[in-house]
Amino acid sequence: MIDSVVNVSNVSKVYGSKGENQFQALEEVSFSMQEGEFIGIMGASGSGKTTLLNTISTLDNVSGGQIEIAGTTITEMKEQDLADFRARKLGFIFQDFNLLESMTVYENIALPLFLQKMGGRNVQERVDQVADILDIKDILSKYPAIISGGQKQRTAAARALVHNPSIILADEPTGALDSSNAASLLETLQNLNEEHQVSIMMVTHDAYSASYCERILFLEDGQLYKQINKNGTREEFFKNILDEQAEAGRKKL
Ligand SMILES: Nc1ncnc2c1ncn2[C@@H]1O[C@H](COP(=O)(O)OP(=O)(O)O)[C@@H](O)[C@H]1O
Ligand SMILES: [Mg+2]
Repeated sequence: MIDSVVNVSNVSKVYGSKGENQFQALEEVSFSMQEGEFIGIMGASGSGKTTLLNTISTLDNVSGGQIEIAGTTITEMKEQDLADFRARKLGFIFQDFNLLESMTVYENIALPLFLQKMGGRNVQERVDQVADILDIKDILSKYPAIISGGQKQRTAAARALVHNPSIILADEPTGALDSSNAASLLETLQNLNEEHQVSIMMVTHDAYSASYCERILFLEDGQLYKQINKNGTREEFFKNILDEQAEAGRKKL
């Protein structure tokens, strides 16, 4: 049996309280993701991508439906347990890096381990290991302020990976990078997925970024309306994704 790492069933999300300015951001969204997949979530601005990722991230609650991650039904958990679950099982990469400026690159990466009360040699060994994978060993003693955008996002990726989470969740991770740093980060994510079997879910509105994934889910007005799989090369997948985007645009006219 192949284990699913994420199971989303009939998830809805309504912002705002009853009676006033309610907005339905997600409507009966269902899908599942197998362990070791690299999945992309695409859709126009405002289609609900971040909302979907935030409900899976346990950062936002659902209005209806159920989400299971690595066998745990997170939509039934209390906030205290959720914080613990998040720290142990999830890794995050955000568009704006979210590094702590007062800490070195090493300390930023080690933070999830400290939160789990890991200490001493184990921390050093694990940080060195992920810094090696992400090719940032030479900047471990530097502060975020003096490293490049590309290095910042590699640091964030190392931090997302260091505690060996069940899944890495990334929201527009290339959004603040120039095209060469973006390509390099996407190759790194692809490598983590292919060589180290890391499960990755990435939100993006950008077809080029999405072409590094194996499967794309398309959202429109809070509904999941289509999925496509990569069959051939990344270049072919890129063209398929562009075609899908064009079709979605035409439907709207
Ligand atoms: N906290 C919120 N309160 C009210 N509406 C929100 C909130 N967050 C997002 N929305 C609305 O939900 C819709 C989906 O937003 P979002 O998930 O951020 O879209 P995307 O990431 O695809 O651009 C948008 O119309 C947005 O305005
Ligand atoms: Mg968004």
